[in-house]
Amino acid sequence: MTAGGALPVTVVKFGGAAVAGGPDALARFARGCAELRQQARVVVVHGGGPQITALLGRLGLDSQFRAGLRVSTPEVVSAARAALLGEVAPDIVMALQRLGVTALGMSGADAGVLTARPAQVALNGESVDLGWVGELAEVNVEVLRRVMELGWVPVLASVAPGADGHWFNINADSAAGVIAGALNATRLVILTDVPGIYERWPAAESLLAEADAETLRGLLPGAERGIRPKILAVLDALDAGVAEVIVTDALGAAGTVCRGSAGTARD
Ligand SMILES: Nc1ncnc2c1ncn2[C@@H]1O[C@H](COP(=O)(O)OP(=O)(O)OP(=O)(O)O)[C@@H](O)[C@H]1O
Ligand SMILES: [Mg+2]
Repeated sequence: MTAGGALPVTVVKFGGAAVAGGPDALARFARGCAELRQQARVVVVHGGGPQITALLGRLGLDSQFRAGLRVSTPEVVSAARAALLGEVAPDIVMALQRLGVTALGMSGADAGVLTARPAQVALNGESVDLGWVGELAEVNVEVLRRVMELGWVPVLASVAPGADGHWFNINADSAAGVIAGALNATRLVILTDVPGIYERWPAAESLLAEADAETLRGLLPGAERGIRPKILAVLDALDAGVAEVIVTDALGAAGTVCRGSAGTARD
């Protein structure tokens, strides 16, 4: 597996909604990752929306979303760090470790792996103020390469400091798209709690088996909640040269297969 780091990289984004599926869902995910490692170097990026919402609720704070993103006051960013790094990451790491896969949980700060900057978010042409919501400015590919060379799986939480040390909350789909691009991953698998992307959510028959960049762009005007950042992340990853992005609810399930068609992905 090590000679020249020959195996291609697959980035797997594990959604908080999928983690909330409990120990069975986690064990299934870990088995899928262990199998995937026969053919790829695996990097996990995770969110934790339901866990952050639950922690905020226990603190008596409401969750607010705009443009599918969590409005992030300093209290919200602090709760996101606590939920992701204190709860979600260790659960994912443990599920992998139990199968003999060495996994290393990391926030953006660890070994300086991820650096954030304020996200510029627009909805219908209007800029939206979301507080401390970030996007990835830099991915330290060398750090990830070294971790993978050890045969370990990096498990990256989507919280990262900016250049001045301020913490940002980053949508995990958006982080996964950028990380997949930076690593020249051949594949990004976005695991969530629905079987794929629906053309007319929630009409069951509108589940897309395949989608090219143009189709995805066409969905953006009506895309709300969690699917908006997901579609933007898919477009980003395709744009950065990732050959295939799959949005699905289980590793190995068909899901929605997204590929940039000639002339559209790289516009
Ligand atoms: N067109 C659509 N296709 C698929 N899902 C959609 C669509 N429109 C809205 N959704 C919603 O998006 C949700 C998935 O996004 P959500 O952000 O809630 O979860 P996640 O991204 O998997 O987890 P996390 O945000 O914790 O990383 C689905 O559960 C569904 O309710
Ligand atoms: Mg989400």
